Amino acid sequence: MSLFWRIFALNAVVLGLATALLLWAPVTVSVPVLLTEAVILVAGLAVMLVANAALLRLGLAPLDRLTRLMTTVDLLRPGQRLPAAGGREVAELIRTFNAMLERLEQERATSSARALLAQEAERRRIAQELHDEVGQTMTAILLGLKRAADDAPEPLRKDLHEVQEITRESLDEVRRLVRRLRPGVLDDLGLISALTSLTEDFATHTGLRITRRFDTDLPALAPETELVLYRVAQESLTNAARHADAAHVTVALRHTDDSAELTVTDDGRGVEAAREGAGIRGMRERALLIGGGLEIAPAPGTGTRVQLTAPVSRKH
Ligand SMILES: Nc1ncnc2c1ncn2[C@@H]1O[C@H](COP(=O)(O)OP(=O)(O)OP(=O)(O)O)[C@@H](O)[C@H]1O
Ligand SMILES: [Mg+2]
Repeated sequence: MSLFWRIFALNAVVLGLATALLLWAPVTVSVPVLLTEAVILVAGLAVMLVANAALLRLGLAPLDRLTRLMTTVDLLRPGQRLPAAGGREVAELIRTFNAMLERLEQERATSSARALLAQEAERRRIAQELHDEVGQTMTAILLGLKRAADDAPEPLRKDLHEVQEITRESLDEVRRLVRRLRPGVLDDLGLISALTSLTEDFATHTGLRITRRFDTDLPALAPETELVLYRVAQESLTNAARHADAAHVTVALRHTDDSAELTVTDDGRGVEAAREGAGIRGMRERALLIGGGLEIAPAPGTGTRVQLTAPVSRKH
């Protein structure tokens, strides 16, 4: 039955009942109206309104469900759909809405994939330039300083050594930056080494105690999957260091037959589910990019656990 006829029928039932009651009940309305008659009429009206409201609510329930889904749907958690229940128009509306969600999710996935790939390409380019231009120039400066220091008289030599030291530190910093921008070890040595060096870097720079639990017999993963696992580990560690007030973080990489699973668990103050910034959304987008799922939940005890499950697709 269409929504129009359903609502019409509901109203007809209520009005019909009221009329039948008027016809058969010993009700009289005098002119001018008596107080008791007025009270009876108003009570009748109230009963009719309540019945009408209840029936309308019943008739419009599928629309309510649709509205709730519309306001809460999150494209970063795809796959939420409503069963096409209810009357003809409502079912049609739900089907259209489901189709629209499907389209939006697909478009979102392609556009965020494009943005992430562009971002990675840009990072690679910046890393390359930092390495080739700034890195080389600073190395040349270092060599020049060393030559000058060797030939310089004593008071000047000390100064030159100091400048040399500062330059060396800056060069180290540039190298670290290059590594962060482009985890070159990923290409050269694979995910485990990249994650090991990432966690070691983190431990020295933040003072966090980091435990690694890596499965050794990890199957070969597609390069983009490895990059996503690496970036999610990087952001989770950054978050643990910045927000969690944690002392200890565990980074685990496990695998089953058809999935690899990265978990970063801290023992900090825990995360509120409602607060998701660019970092967490970025992790979700990256997970979607490789058909994986990301879950952020309270860790057992205190703290936060970030878990990325990535489907294993063999290296091609
Ligand atoms: N491990 C954690 N422990 C406690 N709170 C956390 C943790 N990770 C995230 N949060 C909270 O969730 C919020 C959102 O994190 P998200 O990474 O999305 O953004 P951000 O770190 O604030 O900024 P950025 O865009 O630079 O990552 C944080 O501001 C923080 O309050
Ligand atoms: Mg963050």
